[in-house]
Amino acid sequence: MSPRDDRAGFELALAVAEGLLVDSRTLLDGDLLRRASNLRAVSTVSVGLDHIDLEAARERRIAVTTTPVLSDAVADLVLALMIMLTRRLPEAARAATSGRWSQALLGNDLGGKVLLLVGFGRIGQEVARRSLACKMRVGYWDRRDDLPLVEGVERELDFEGALRAADFVSLHVDLNASTAHLIGSKELALMKPTAFLVNTARGGVVDQEALRRALAEGRLAGAALDVLEQEPPLAGEPLLSEPRAIVVPHIGSATVETRAAMLELGIDNLLGCLHGDSGRYAVVDPRRPVSSDLP
Ligand code: DGY
Repeated sequence: MSPRDDRAGFELALAVAEGLLVDSRTLLDGDLLRRASNLRAVSTVSVGLDHIDLEAARERRIAVTTTPVLSDAVADLVLALMIMLTRRLPEAARAATSGRWSQALLGNDLGGKVLLLVGFGRIGQEVARRSLACKMRVGYWDRRDDLPLVEGVERELDFEGALRAADFVSLHVDLNASTAHLIGSKELALMKPTAFLVNTARGGVVDQEALRRALAEGRLAGAALDVLEQEPPLAGEPLLSEPRAIVVPHIGSATVETRAAMLELGIDNLLGCLHGDSGRYAVVDPRRPVSSDLP
């Protein structure tokens, strides 16, 4: 049962449930978690956690696990979106099907272009590998210091300078208080008017209205978005009709292989937690000291 379909029924079930298997569309706020008095484990079939109040879960000693097995699928999508943007593929496809056959629809090479990855976790690293294979110059910015080295990828310490230099900026951070609207009007103004933004992370990382204005005023060449601040978007969402924007409906992990692997891991995690271990990917583990289990 989904809380979107039947909130009251969901709450009734939650009052007796010991374990919960959800995905990123199910909002589990503090209020709901505090009232779920039998709940011991939440397994989310997602890597993002912004739909779950982790503080409340920790307080209630509810285990929370994720399924971080989607990096290849999301990285493939990022590469596809960068190529769609720079080779003007939506426009080219429209031209071909509407009788405007033109071999003069010029784009640009990926090779030699500067890609800035904002966030360098598993997904960012996979995007880096693919982009290096396309001969891009790849750098990353991340607040964390303990990240693996990927040969050929530079760490950028000056966020604003890196935004100024980038031809492509691709976002790979969680949505939390420190990353909400990380890309707003100030950051967009730093980017080159020829640059592209790709967001496959969470809509809330970008100030969507500021992005819409930057695109409409030609201050940014284009944006490709797999995620929006409001999903599904409201009717009339202006970004959906913005010619410089490509919007797809949160399909980063949507391959048969990846969704099957996520579901299998989600079920394993849930059963593991209910049987007394912490599941393979516990973000909140009630068996560990409370101070060390938040990301
Ligand atoms: C994730 O796993 O967080 C993806 O964005 C799908 O929700």
